[in-house]
Amino acid sequence: MKNLKNLALFFVLAFTLSSCIDNDNGFTHSHYKKYELMENTLNIPQEGPEEYNLVFPEYYGRESPFNKDEATLGRVMFYDKKLSADGTVSCASCHKQEIAFSDDKKVSDGINNQVTLRNSLALGAVFNFQEYYGPNRVPFFWDNSVQTVEEQIEFTFGSKNEMDMTLDQIVDVMNSNDYYTPLILALNSQEEKITKDGAVRALATFVNSIGSYTSRFDKALSKEANGRIGFGQEMNVASINFKDFTESENRGKSIYLSKCASCHGEIMGAPNVLQASNGIEVMAEDPGVAFTNGQFKVPSLRNLNHTYPYMHDGRFATIEEVLDHYSTGIRATDDLHPLLKEGSGNPRKFNFTEEERADLLAFFSTLDDPEFIADQKYSDPFKQ
Ligand code: HEC
Ligand code: HEC
Repeated sequence: MKNLKNLALFFVLAFTLSSCIDNDNGFTHSHYKKYELMENTLNIPQEGPEEYNLVFPEYYGRESPFNKDEATLGRVMFYDKKLSADGTVSCASCHKQEIAFSDDKKVSDGINNQVTLRNSLALGAVFNFQEYYGPNRVPFFWDNSVQTVEEQIEFTFGSKNEMDMTLDQIVDVMNSNDYYTPLILALNSQEEKITKDGAVRALATFVNSIGSYTSRFDKALSKEANGRIGFGQEMNVASINFKDFTESENRGKSIYLSKCASCHGEIMGAPNVLQASNGIEVMAEDPGVAFTNGQFKVPSLRNLNHTYPYMHDGRFATIEEVLDHYSTGIRATDDLHPLLKEGSGNPRKFNFTEEERADLLAFFSTLDDPEFIADQKYSDPFKQ
């Protein structure tokens, strides 16, 4: 009798289980319809993609939700070489995760053996694209010419030496390669084809989700800040000696705060000055920001150890060379920023000592973010 009861229970259980496992696609637990179309090409689990909700450090006191299906479709686009005219280049060719989404060339290699005009900007040098970049905030590109990620994407796809694709062509490639179908269906359970807007939105969501905020600097800053840093308090909080830093790192931080942060920002978030000439000799053919004589974006310095070579033209191969520049090499360029001039109007010379250089390098290493660089949700989803 007891055994019979157990048997009945077994059947009931087995029936319930099988009814929630089986449906026409195999698994109801599967996040994806038609998963079989992508499983040979993409390393994205059937149960669904990574979460993209960003949890910023405590000092920032905020989280930021991202639609994981849009971000995941954008991630596949970011790594897909088919989205370039000759099939050799993806966004990731010039923005490599292992080096904070930069590349290690002076100028980058685009399609048909062409090169870009400027040094690749490290997407992992910024705290987070959505938080700091965009209209009325920090614009994109070395010449600050673009206001939104969406415009940047259309510009980059279309650029003859980078990918040379119209958005119509991008959408055609996506709609004719069936590994995109499950990803598109995940956005809208009816539609198997993506629109131009949908494609741009997906890639923009992925780019906006990129950002590095889990460095030792961020962790130490969170401890000192005791909760959220209010607007305008960045300097007060950042200038406290961090308990988790070595003496050298703390000295480097002080030098950075007194000599560099007035432009590059105290907590490596938004810069304090959007554009400037920092006194590098500028080639006439690249005047930088429109209507200036060689002013360029003030770049963010997170993951600096990885983002060489430096400056808009990649002229400096090492951080030491950058420090030589600020130490004794600043030139009296037409537009040299007042913060880099002496009272007399001559270029400043910071004349760093050996110890000061070592301290600055130690401080910059606290901006390394190994968790970010290894984060699965930003990695190449294609099976090799
Ligand atoms: C051939 C190399 C190359 C490819 C391919 C490429 N980029 Fe870039 N990217 C660059 C260079 C070089 C810059 C800096 C250009 C400038 O400022 O003039 C840049 C700048 C950017 C910026 C601006 C960052 C900032 O801080 O202002 C973003 C965002 C970006 N790229 C995203 C992308 C995306 C998304 C794709 C794919 C659609 C892509 N890139 C493809 C080389 C490339
Ligand atoms: C007047 C504002 C200003 C000040 C002050 C300043 N910088 Fe810069 N910095 C810039 C600008 C603008 C650029 C980009 C110039 C270019 O590429 O043409 C830059 C570029 C850099 C880069 C290259 C980053 C990259 O990814 O290519 C580093 C590193 C750097 N600065 C470090 C420093 C340090 C260290 C100090 C303090 C000793 C400092 N800066 C002070 C404006 C400033």
